[in-house]
Amino acid sequence: MILDNIVPFGRSKAEYELMFALTESDRQKTIIGIGDGPASFNAEMTAAGYQVTSIDPIYQFTGAEIKSRFDACVDGIIEQVIKSPSNWIWKYHKSPADLQANREKAIALFLEDYEQGKSASRYLKAELPRLDFADQQFQLALCSHFLFLYSAHLSLEFHLDSIRELCRIAEEVRIFPILTLAQERSPYLDTVRESLAKDGITSEIIQVAYELQRGGNQMIIFKNYRTYGKSTN
Ligand SMILES: C[S@@+](CC[C@H](N)C(=O)[O-])C[C@H]1O[C@@H](n2cnc3c(N)ncnc32)[C@H](O)[C@@H]1O
Repeated sequence: MILDNIVPFGRSKAEYELMFALTESDRQKTIIGIGDGPASFNAEMTAAGYQVTSIDPIYQFTGAEIKSRFDACVDGIIEQVIKSPSNWIWKYHKSPADLQANREKAIALFLEDYEQGKSASRYLKAELPRLDFADQQFQLALCSHFLFLYSAHLSLEFHLDSIRELCRIAEEVRIFPILTLAQERSPYLDTVRESLAKDGITSEIIQVAYELQRGGNQMIIFKNYRTYGKSTN
């Protein structure tokens, strides 16, 4: 993986809670964050006594390397946001400057926790579409701003393999948003849902109380009713 190709922008626990409509009972589950990057979700959840494992290929890099990549992209991204005012809803973040401040706060919290979290195996270098976890090891998998968002860069095949893999390792999988970077509904959505339904994986689209990309206020939940590694006797 080349760090220059990725945008290490991370969201906070409060944003994850809104994007994924997390209830107190959800927070108490064993959670895996997929492509968590420099989000502060894991750090904040751990500090609050919950159990989160995060995987991301960028965890092969040091905190200093991740921060320097963030510093190299942040101004350019905020400039793009300012130049496309009709694409954004200023509800949770009050303005482009507030968005930048919130992203800086998230990466700062992540970096404070990163070394300790790595030692505790809470930040693991791993990447979709294959993950080295046992069947149904987690109760809940959360994937924010990776699958569906990068539909222009990642194939339909990649999405199908990845979501099947997530349904293998977790009882329930939530993905947000279902829009692409071009603010359109992912062209893969219907095919993925139809194809996975044939494997016994159900899906449901839910409206949530978080919207930054205009129209990006829905998450999708996948659930697999097959039994994994369990005796059928
Ligand atoms: C836009 S960031 C989102 C970070 C975080 N989920 C959030 O919403 O705050 C996308 C993340 O996906 C990660 N990523 C890239 N390829 C991946 C893969 N094959 N499997 C899992 N994560 C990947 C990137 O390294 C990056 O950290």
